[in-house]
Amino acid sequence: MSEAILNITNLVKDYKTGFTGKKTRVLKNVTFDVYKGEVFGFVGPNGAGKTTTFKSILGFVTPTEGKIELLGKEHSDSGAKSRIGYLPENPYFYDYLTGEELLYYMGELHGLKRKYLHEKIEELLRKVSMEHAKKMQMRKYSKGMLQRIGIAQALVNDPEFIILDEPMSGLDPIGRREIKDLILEEKRKGKTILLSSHMLSDVEALCDRVGIIMGGTVIKIGNIGELLKEIHTDYEMHLEGPGDEVKQCVKDLRVEMDSRAGYIVLKFDEDIKRMVLEAVTRTSAEIVSIHPLRKSLEGLFVEEAKKGNPQKEQ
Ligand SMILES: Nc1ncnc2c1ncn2[C@@H]1O[C@H](COP(=O)(O)OP(=O)(O)OP(=O)(O)O)[C@@H](O)[C@H]1O
Ligand SMILES: [Mg+2]
Repeated sequence: MSEAILNITNLVKDYKTGFTGKKTRVLKNVTFDVYKGEVFGFVGPNGAGKTTTFKSILGFVTPTEGKIELLGKEHSDSGAKSRIGYLPENPYFYDYLTGEELLYYMGELHGLKRKYLHEKIEELLRKVSMEHAKKMQMRKYSKGMLQRIGIAQALVNDPEFIILDEPMSGLDPIGRREIKDLILEEKRKGKTILLSSHMLSDVEALCDRVGIIMGGTVIKIGNIGELLKEIHTDYEMHLEGPGDEVKQCVKDLRVEMDSRAGYIVLKFDEDIKRMVLEAVTRTSAEIVSIHPLRKSLEGLFVEEAKKGNPQKEQ
């Protein structure tokens, strides 16, 4: 196993809410590691605790319990933080600044010299396709433009560890493609990336491993391929012929029947594949195709969500 860049152990966060100050536990023993050179996806429904976990790593939120080690150091160590890049979920920047000014400002906060920054900023503006708007005040930026400049500022210090809270949010398809390429380029340079996203197809395409968090509890962690093996596969069969006859034949089996583009479409579980095949061959309908439906992270996510969200209260 390669070197861990981040170790989170039994992270707990309680928030006081309402007038009574009643405590709500929003993170419940969150434990996971992120290893050097990987892209780790943190996914979960709205309110699951992704942003709270990220803010805890960065020290913007004080954990109630638990331990966070960052780049081999206690996470409160400021030396470690200077080697991190962070895109917040709702980037709020000083919006009277231009995009270019923001990048200089962030770079200088990291102690970088203007001379070095000039080249770096030009390169980043090019990568996020924002050269044309670099002299525009950010209050005039669209949501996608803010997101692009937000990603650029997360990379201005050439960080070893990049934390991106919903990097694809608000981007058009071209923007999503560009940002995905940018993330993969950073990975190729040996950087480590932790990101959250609701775009599960992007997570599938980008991430080596994922953690699924629901109701403040990490319910699954692993390599995407391995996690997908755990979910059952549905099959889809396309037929041509008399629908009534097919319907009659599969009526005792757990089969969903539909029609699409002139074909009869049957959807069923892997376990009964043989039975369905036997049943339809007794009809005069012709089997045009049979194929497994692709397993996806979305399928896994929905399956886990159906099992029920872990308890909210503690
Ligand atoms: N400052 C706060 N005070 C009280 N409760 C909070 C605070 N910040 C977050 N929460 C609660 O913590 C829980 C987790 O929120 P968090 O923002 O971490 O979720 P998330 O997984 O990032 O969701 P989303 O996908 O919507 O961004 C939510 O129930 C939220 O209401
Ligand atoms: Mg969030």
